[in-house]
Amino acid sequence: MNAQIERAVEHFRALLEEQLGRAERMENASAQEKTANPKTVVGVVGGDGIGPIIVNEAARVLEALLADEIARGTLELRPIDGLTIENRLARGEAVPAEVLAAIKGCDVLLKGPTTTPKGGTLESANVALRRALDLYANVRPVRIPEEGVDWTFFRENTEGEYALGSRGVELPGLAMDFKVITDAGTRRIARAAFEFARKNGKKNVAIVTKANIMKKTDGKFSAICHEVAKDYPEMEVEDWYIDIMTANLVNPAIRSRFEVFILPNLYGDIITDEAAQLQGGVGTAGSANLGDRYAMFEAVHGTAPRMIEEGLGDYANPESILRAAQLMLNHIGRAEAAAKLGKALEICCETEKKVAVTGDRSGATCREFGDYLLKTLQTLS
Ligand code: IPM
Ligand code: MG
Repeated sequence: MNAQIERAVEHFRALLEEQLGRAERMENASAQEKTANPKTVVGVVGGDGIGPIIVNEAARVLEALLADEIARGTLELRPIDGLTIENRLARGEAVPAEVLAAIKGCDVLLKGPTTTPKGGTLESANVALRRALDLYANVRPVRIPEEGVDWTFFRENTEGEYALGSRGVELPGLAMDFKVITDAGTRRIARAAFEFARKNGKKNVAIVTKANIMKKTDGKFSAICHEVAKDYPEMEVEDWYIDIMTANLVNPAIRSRFEVFILPNLYGDIITDEAAQLQGGVGTAGSANLGDRYAMFEAVHGTAPRMIEEGLGDYANPESILRAAQLMLNHIGRAEAAAKLGKALEICCETEKKVAVTGDRSGATCREFGDYLLKTLQTLS
């Protein structure tokens, strides 16, 4: 046992050195100047399971919305292959090197869900991409218009429980994982959230942790968020614990008073599924992964392996990836196209609802919904 403890301690020392190095690089990073590119390249990745089916509809919609720009050559939709579970397992790489190189040749990415193997050593492609592209802000908007609910979650996306999630230690009869919170990593997600709040006229910012139990990591997270908050004196800043906030979201008496949330990675992961479900299902919410250089847009949900097994892939709901496409259009400055897509989604999913996808044979197929949305887009000037 002693030798095993020694090995674990050595492993921990290496992790500490690596993470301190990462923290130092973040501290010293100067704001990167984005070079003005004459052409915006949007990488399109299908992923696994229902991924290619829903991404295909999103690509059709983007082609229609951006037809002029594509023709003029100022924007390219570039399909990227190889981010499939088969290829990743065969290569033993979470994101095969040549796929990562192709992704880095794009400005932004629209990505379908990818299979995350449970256990084993192959890391989630999402987690690997978020780290490789330093996509530190996971921004997830959720709305329940009839109740005046308009939430935006800022989930820290590169640290917390995810930073070393595949690199814990296991001794006979015991397993231990690590959670990492850094000053610099917390500062940048807090800054992103407060800047968003200010630019969008939001007043309430909730810092959500479990600092009463995770005293070191969540304690730091909360303290650094409050430090950043000093630059935004107009904001009403509140501390909440994740357990009671989870309850608050299902309490119609108070939930509409919340606007912006800042959370460490794992709490953000969990609560955004809950929030998406309240909006109408995890199939309805889009997700932006933002860094200073790259950005990736995806659905909140996974690959839906059960739908594929039951032969229901064609009945998958593309709403979530379409919302992600809308977030992407806004991010690359195509505000007009984004607004048009938003309007069409409102008509197709909230008001008119002539074609409804239910996820099984009782509803429309993904393609039929795509056709309906495209037709609706044509009616908008
Ligand atoms: C999400 C997903 C991912 C996560 C999985 C697929 C790794 O649940 O984007 O919320 O846990 O972050
Ligand atoms: Mg999740």
